[in-house]
Amino acid sequence: MTEITVFEGDITSLSVTAIVNAANSRLAGGGGVDGAIHRAAGHRQLQAACAKLGGCPTGQVRLTEAFELPSEYIIHAVGPVWHGGKQGEEAALRSCYREAMRLAIRQAFESIAFPAISCGVYGYPWREAVGIAVTEVTRCLQRSSALETVVFCCFDTRMADLYRARLASDRVGGG
Ligand code: APR
Repeated sequence: MTEITVFEGDITSLSVTAIVNAANSRLAGGGGVDGAIHRAAGHRQLQAACAKLGGCPTGQVRLTEAFELPSEYIIHAVGPVWHGGKQGEEAALRSCYREAMRLAIRQAFESIAFPAISCGVYGYPWREAVGIAVTEVTRCLQRSSALETVVFCCFDTRMADLYRARLASDRVGGG
């Protein structure tokens, strides 16, 4: 049975098999969680690894090693920019979580930590994004429970509370 936890803090501090990055489609690094990951992994090494991948379309993921981080791998996921909800944002965000989970399961990873993809500068409404994250991760785990731990890593308490509430209501509802 996979344990799903909510962690409040910096994703770069986590000793999990893979952390997920909220990247951009050029995999060029940036601010927010992407900037924190690049700094902590070692900017030059991670930039060089990303440059070899030739970018990543929205909704997809790419894998690199994690260099100086306590985790072993980084799954770079490119979330959608929120444009009001009618430009395929939901499908793209669902795809990020699904593809990251599939990759983790395929690679037989023990643990994975997700940031709130698209919930910073990309502007996705938090409550909807949290619903998508929890639903997609739970669905993937119903098909394969090889992962021991999934962490939803939140940078602030309001986001963490949304995850806790959503996970609790899914447990009560059996969803
Ligand atoms: N650890 C965990 N979560 C973090 C951290 C961190 N160190 N830093 C920021 N966050 C949180 C933010 O509070 C937000 O809830 O990650 C979430 C995602 O925010 P962003 O990093 O802004 O990511 P996103 O909205 O997907 O935008 C991606 O921003 O940095 C650029 O290159 C990146 O262009 C891409 C865009």
